[in-house]
Amino acid sequence: MKKIIIGNWKMNLGLKASLKLAMEYKKNLKGTNSVVVAGPSEFALADVVNILKGSGVLLAAQNVFWQNEGAYTGEVSVKTLEEIGCRYVLIGHSERRQYLGESCRIVNQKIKAVLILTQKISPVLCVGESLSTKQAGKSKIFVSGQLQRALVNVKSFEAARLVIAYEPIWAIGTGKTATEKDVLEMHGHIRVWLSKRFGVVAGKIPILYGGSVKATVAIELLATPDVDGLLVGGASLLASEMKKIANIK
Ligand code: 13P
Repeated sequence: MKKIIIGNWKMNLGLKASLKLAMEYKKNLKGTNSVVVAGPSEFALADVVNILKGSGVLLAAQNVFWQNEGAYTGEVSVKTLEEIGCRYVLIGHSERRQYLGESCRIVNQKIKAVLILTQKISPVLCVGESLSTKQAGKSKIFVSGQLQRALVNVKSFEAARLVIAYEPIWAIGTGKTATEKDVLEMHGHIRVWLSKRFGVVAGKIPILYGGSVKATVAIELLATPDVDGLLVGGASLLASEMKKIANIK
């Protein structure tokens, strides 16, 4: 299975800079060894998808609402993301949980909406513990709880379209990548959890790692069992860095 490398551009770029980066992705990221995905902010999605046409680079949205239409000021629907051509959508990123109060219940509603309302978009469920939880030795229990609440009422056949991203909060934007041992243990734990919940389908669910990923650490991470790809933040703002990561065999 090809590794999935998603660049989460977050809210780092304005429109012009997003389009410029999309052009650099198109130039540098054609025909790599991985499935490469660009995740611009919402306002740039439609223009970025046009730029990326023919490059093989796919599109991810950073957010979605759980109703397909209606009076929900400021939100974006699954239908709109599908029309634009998004193939992935991040759900439950720790920054949204922290700054926008996104609860596990909301995360669950969003996951369900994407799985039910479209066949074309994979929800990327982000989970991960804080530093204090890690220091208390409770990382695995915490992540199991997040998975359990986020995936309430998700059926095994629906789960085949899921992607999980393990993003320990203490590793995001800190320059402190999780160690190979941390990642090995947590990804193994997530795989076992998924197997108990979804049976054989669990083997099809890619588990990505995110948190201070750069090309230099990506080689080791991608060689770790149960690491099916990476969710890259800061380093994804450089097409050259993404190219190095996406070409790792
Ligand atoms: P950084 O790679 O900047 O640590 O961000 C990780 C992340 O949050 C990706 O979603």
